[in-house]
Amino acid sequence: MSSRPATGTGKSALAPRYYLDPAVFETERERVFFRTWQYAGHASQLQKAGDYFTFSVLDQSLFCVRDKDTAVRTFYNVCQHRAHELLQGAGNRRSLVCPYHAWTYGLDGRLKRAPNSNSVPGFDAGAICLSEVRTETFCGFIFVNLDPDAEPMQDWFPQAEDELRAFVPDIDRLRPVAWFEVAEACNWKVSVENYSECYHCRLNHPTFANGVVKPETYNVMAQGHCLRHTTECANLDRMTYPIDLTANEHAGDYSSWFLWPGVSFQVYPGNVLNTYVWQPVDVRNVMVGRGWYTVDGVQSDVIDKLAQQDLDSTVAEDVRLVESVQRGLGSMGYTPGPLVLDPNYGVNSEHSVQSLNDWLLAAIESC
Ligand code: FES
Ligand SMILES: [Fe+2]
Repeated sequence: MSSRPATGTGKSALAPRYYLDPAVFETERERVFFRTWQYAGHASQLQKAGDYFTFSVLDQSLFCVRDKDTAVRTFYNVCQHRAHELLQGAGNRRSLVCPYHAWTYGLDGRLKRAPNSNSVPGFDAGAICLSEVRTETFCGFIFVNLDPDAEPMQDWFPQAEDELRAFVPDIDRLRPVAWFEVAEACNWKVSVENYSECYHCRLNHPTFANGVVKPETYNVMAQGHCLRHTTECANLDRMTYPIDLTANEHAGDYSSWFLWPGVSFQVYPGNVLNTYVWQPVDVRNVMVGRGWYTVDGVQSDVIDKLAQQDLDSTVAEDVRLVESVQRGLGSMGYTPGPLVLDPNYGVNSEHSVQSLNDWLLAAIESC
């Protein structure tokens, strides 16, 4: 095997095995996904005490529930008797009854009743509790972290919450109105890297160069474990929907906050919030969720059109890119190339990919 001499003193793309090797994915499962803040759902899905929904972080089934004190709590979805799953889907419960032998838990996770347990000498119901998971609400979005010692989101993503609130002044009144899932036949990192750099945009997104953003002002910078996309906008008159530019300070702005490892909040002019959630399926497949939100959840033709346009253009264009990269990573003819790190940053720099690679390696090569 010949190997190419180094073409620069900077950093290179990651070796293919990081995108192909199930052993790397297994390490990421424990050291990345089980130790970082993962999106669970939206607080509006839990309006009343007892409302719950189930979800998963890779193979770990969990549920969020609003307890009697109106706090949102998250538990592993498993009974502490003989491991039956407690809940399915979403709904409302006054208490959590296991379908297997009817052990019954309160909304705070404490065991309240277990049939015939008084026949067991020393049975201590007070000592039995569902396993709780760290939970935070970030601008109405519920995040969980399976690592009990994880730093709070504020430390991972400094300023992100305040900035997002400034860009979306009504964020606490937003409700989800649309959710699309796009299956991509690629490793989750291929998709996240593609989202995080705009070096490919001019060539691959026709609307980018001629649309709303001013490409020469586009930039992506790391801010803690957040990748912050900023740009100036041009041609707001080309927007396909009306915008009241006097409504607030950021009414005419575009920005996005990617929260490592797999969520992005994106704001379009008009304070239109939409989200990306990357959910890895296995080492070669990822499911990308696209969410759209409106104030009070009001149905909006504008949002419906925008969401469809986005699927048909940017998303479809990116799917072709990432799936081609995944195939290329399996080629025996590929040697990882140098990242294009422009000292002045900007739209054609891959600093963001370097940040992603650094965060990944710090996570999986620690311990
Ligand atoms: S496994 Fe839940 S009650 Fe037995
Ligand atoms: Fe793209």
